[in-house]
Amino acid sequence: MARIFALILTVIVVTACSHNQATTQVYQQAVAMPDSFSADAAMAVLEEGGNAVDAAIAAQFVLAVTLPEAGNIGGGGFMTIAFEGENDFLDYREMAPANAHRDMYLDNEGNVKPYESLFGAKASGIPGTVAGMWAAHKKYGSLPWERLLEPAVSLAEEGFIVPKKLSDNIAWYIEKTEEQGLKGNFAHYFSQAKANTRFTQPELATTLKHIQAQGKDGFYRGEVAEKIVSFMQNNGGLITHDDLQAYHAVWRAPLTYQWQDYTLVTAPPPSSGGVAVAQWIGMLDAYTTMATPSTSLKHNSLDYIHVMSEIGKRVFADRAQYMGDPDFVNVPVNALIAPDYIDARAKAINLHEISVTEDIKPGLKESEDTTHFSILDRWGNAVANTTTINLTFGSGVVVSGAGFLLNDEMDDFSAKPGVPNFFGAVGGEANAIAPYKRMLSSMTPTLVKEGNDVVLVTGSPGGTTIISSVTQSLLNALLFDMTAEDAVNAPRFHHQLLPKDTIRMHDGFLDSDVQQLKQRGYVIDQRRFGDLHLIKRTHQGLEAASEASGRGKSMVR
Ligand code: GLY
Repeated sequence: MARIFALILTVIVVTACSHNQATTQVYQQAVAMPDSFSADAAMAVLEEGGNAVDAAIAAQFVLAVTLPEAGNIGGGGFMTIAFEGENDFLDYREMAPANAHRDMYLDNEGNVKPYESLFGAKASGIPGTVAGMWAAHKKYGSLPWERLLEPAVSLAEEGFIVPKKLSDNIAWYIEKTEEQGLKGNFAHYFSQAKANTRFTQPELATTLKHIQAQGKDGFYRGEVAEKIVSFMQNNGGLITHDDLQAYHAVWRAPLTYQWQDYTLVTAPPPSSGGVAVAQWIGMLDAYTTMATPSTSLKHNSLDYIHVMSEIGKRVFADRAQYMGDPDFVNVPVNALIAPDYIDARAKAINLHEISVTEDIKPGLKESEDTTHFSILDRWGNAVANTTTINLTFGSGVVVSGAGFLLNDEMDDFSAKPGVPNFFGAVGGEANAIAPYKRMLSSMTPTLVKEGNDVVLVTGSPGGTTIISSVTQSLLNALLFDMTAEDAVNAPRFHHQLLPKDTIRMHDGFLDSDVQQLKQRGYVIDQRRFGDLHLIKRTHQGLEAASEASGRGKSMVR
């Protein structure tokens, strides 16, 4: 019945399209995507009668062609799904190869070797994206697999006009890696991608055609697998044929969390993001309820920034201690988001003082890059998908002959307890390297439901800052009742325990507030982060928005 009603609406609805802007329409279907190519491909699938998962699969492969900074077939990700009233979660995170071991990035003195987990073949986990998309299609796909690969194949084969932001990123990356003396084949593959000219990727097109014709086996077996393994052997990497064949995507129960009148449906471990977002909004609620007289914190006010930062300290202390791959370690998810625990953590927050970093312990006893997209189809099914090769352009090396970049996701493990990774996150035993283990992630593709209706789809890139972007986007949209456009563009801030008392902030906060935060003792790190792509359902219909600083495109039709 819902489907018939939605189909009738298709006929009467007016089309709207925007670049980087929220769009309000009678509700229909919406996409909020990190570039125009993926937006057009996803919307075309929806208009052809495909569902949100079909559109997500087409978009994922397009991004592997047009957004090489983070879109990928050489990486992994998470997909949060609402489908015909049920919630689901697909974990297609990379896994450590069988020959990986906990000290593999340490030198003889036990120090972490610079760049080994960040650059080159040895930095790569076993890619999960193709297995993930294949699993998603098997369970939910309605259009043929071959059809969903078409846009990516043609963009790789016939080329696409390079956006300036992409050519700028390529130039920046080539310069930076040369400066650091890091040698690879990135420039050979990408230096011809110049702004406003057509860029073709024939090797990638051939790889995508193998996947199109043979599904998952087109990547993990046969010619493409052979190229990956020989690239590994020639460049000091660890991934073997056995590793490729051992890779499997996993269907997990999504993490659900009741917040006010809503149900959050979000990423469970091996993401730290779902637990962290639940803790963050839970402690904010607990704090405002317990404060006497009851305090309501104005959006982006000084007190709001301080209280949210204090919560961030506690969230990241727990993350460092407890979080890892649930197939290897016991992650106490229920305890970490239990109301009593949230209340107790919130109670210790002082509105006027910064807590001492060293005193914030885990509370239980006992280029950054990446990319995200949000899709809502005409039947109300929704996909929030975050995917990554870790840093911008991943490990910086392309599988020779196969034309795709490999991830440097091994850096998301804790190479040594207490030593921060690229994102400044520390970890311990729970996130130590082990064969076939999945590295801890911050990716947080999130849906919010009111009853059975999806009212928000959100997510962002940005390493550990993803957690702040997602938390603040959902507070902006639902607590502060902003439009989708305002929710993604309002200035954000991030506190993650370490570096000590440091708040990373977008531009756009009042100078006087920034000065007062400094006087309170905070160190202000003024650097933008994140790239939100958000869909919001209002009584008037759907709104979709992509953050204005990126190259995203959102549409409601
Ligand atoms: N590579 C970033 C993350 O998964 O959190």
